[in-house]
Amino acid sequence: MFASQEKVQGRPIRLIAAACKNMGIGKNGWLPWTLPMEFQYLLDKISSVSRPGKKNLLVWGRICWFSAPENLHPIDNAVNVVLSRTISTLPKHAHYLCNNFESAVLLATSPLLNEEVETIWILGGVEIYKKALAHPWCDLIYLTDIMADFDCDTFFPGFDRNVYRLQDQRCSGSSVDLVRICFDKHLACKKYVQHFPGVPDECQQECGIRYKFQVFKKELGYRSKQEVNSNGLQTSVQPEDHGEKTINDTNVI
Ligand SMILES: NC(=O)c1ccc[n+]([C@@H]2O[C@H](COP(=O)([O-])OP(=O)(O)OC[C@H]3O[C@@H](n4cnc5c(N)ncnc54)[C@H](OP(=O)(O)O)[C@@H]3O)[C@@H](O)[C@H]2O)c1
Repeated sequence: MFASQEKVQGRPIRLIAAACKNMGIGKNGWLPWTLPMEFQYLLDKISSVSRPGKKNLLVWGRICWFSAPENLHPIDNAVNVVLSRTISTLPKHAHYLCNNFESAVLLATSPLLNEEVETIWILGGVEIYKKALAHPWCDLIYLTDIMADFDCDTFFPGFDRNVYRLQDQRCSGSSVDLVRICFDKHLACKKYVQHFPGVPDECQQECGIRYKFQVFKKELGYRSKQEVNSNGLQTSVQPEDHGEKTINDTNVI
């Protein structure tokens, strides 16, 4: 079921995570590793906006939110949304509390935030990543490949790598061009390569652990089940309709 809000202009939904060899992301509610530069990369991404006054909507699961260090806040240019079905008061430093994913995402296009919000960043955990991956507005996954084994109890959800394709950063260099043409020696043809600013191609090393920044991009033309309505017709990128949402005085939705 899709929104009747034909005029709603979606915002890009982007996941950001770091996963080790077995796709582990967490242990006992915390990160399994301490990699300050990798964490700074995340902060840089989620706080980047195209111009002053713009903001990003950050969507956090309750466990992620409460495990983040207090001194992380305030995050530049951030509107923080915490997801929970059990808590009813707005946590300190959070701007909104929502009890479902779609309400959180729709905040970006609400009258109060529509002019400000550029990107919706999904900070996890698992259920929220899964919902985001299936959402029609989702276009990119920023997934750091931690090339080491860690004991984990929380894992990044599986995703279709034919739908979300690993982007080859080798040709992108430091050019400000968003799209360049380079020669793909495997396909033996020219191809377009999108440049993702601030995503180094080189393997990184920190605290004796090697890791690599990766970006997966949803293939154009891919139609998720959510994007195909019951008549088999592709809809435009619109959120699911869960009824009209309004922001109340307490920002608890
Ligand atoms: N390596 C990384 O990049 C990375 C990234 C993110 C997280 N992590 C790790 O992953 C672990 C946390 O992830 P997690 O999956 O266990 O927990 P989480 O998503 O942070 O929190 C789970 C809670 O969020 C709320 N929630 C989730 N989906 C919801 C929805 N659709 N609607 C309403 N509320 C929703 C529920 O709260 P209530 O129970 O209050 O209803 C749920 O119990 C930690 O270890 C963390 O360090 C690692």
